[in-house]
Amino acid sequence: MGFTVNPLSPVLAAEVTGLDLSQPLGENLVAAIRQTWLEAGGLLVFPGQTLTTEQHIRFSESFGPLFGAEGQPPLQESVSKYLHPDHPEIYRVSNKMENGQPKGREGAGTYWHSDVSFRQTPPAASILHAIEIPETGGDTMFCNMTAAYEALSDTMKEIIAPLRAQHDFAQTAATQFAKHNVIDDDLHGANRAVHPVVRTHPDTGKKCLYVNPGMTTHLEGFHANESRALLDLLFAHATRPEFIYRHRYRQGDVVMWDNRSLMHYAIADYADQPRYMERTTGIGDRPV
Ligand code: OGA
Ligand code: MN
Repeated sequence: MGFTVNPLSPVLAAEVTGLDLSQPLGENLVAAIRQTWLEAGGLLVFPGQTLTTEQHIRFSESFGPLFGAEGQPPLQESVSKYLHPDHPEIYRVSNKMENGQPKGREGAGTYWHSDVSFRQTPPAASILHAIEIPETGGDTMFCNMTAAYEALSDTMKEIIAPLRAQHDFAQTAATQFAKHNVIDDDLHGANRAVHPVVRTHPDTGKKCLYVNPGMTTHLEGFHANESRALLDLLFAHATRPEFIYRHRYRQGDVVMWDNRSLMHYAIADYADQPRYMERTTGIGDRPV
């Protein structure tokens, strides 16, 4: 089984056709997909996939262990009600109801972020299956933090090289998110870590910015106003249009992104049109 790669964006995204992800792929194909993913810049789209939840998990596990799998840590204590009832590897993003309860987290990720960056060991890949999508809207934007880093001046690279930043989901959820996206559980729990502002990607060896507006609270060692100004400068820079790809979903898309080198932003513009996505999250390395 071979596959075809079509670029979707020169900076970070490609579409892969010719693969049926419901079938076991084998080691060589998995290695080739991983290589394609890294070369494309961290985002692959596999259109038109019909997958059971088990098949989605199996495909995801071929790239490494998943949060929530047996013997692995859970994704995040406070999100357990948004996990698939039969498959704790699956985080559900949805505005739908099921048996009188939310079927998933509504308004997940409606701000620039890298998934659960407040963990000591944050994720490598997230793999999202678009099961039900609105007729219009509900796109996700992605930006390339390697390209953003590389476009900084040498002087700025020197300034930020030694810096460390705290990531704390509770603090940013309380102060920065739209109120309706925050639940009480977000404000509790040990969702905090300190990471380097510039990390070296363990697979590509390239440097990437690793701060994000959703979860990074402050830079260590600065006054609050200095930290705010420098973070805001980096965020404005990283989210310039030339570093962004905006994905418009078709039903059945499987989208695989690299949390080490990308940020993403879920656009909540679809009102009450139903949307249902299932996501797996692959365990990554401690950023260095
Ligand atoms: C996520 C997320 C993207 C979306 O699942 O990690 O941020 O568009 N959601 O639903
Ligand atoms: Mn996310």
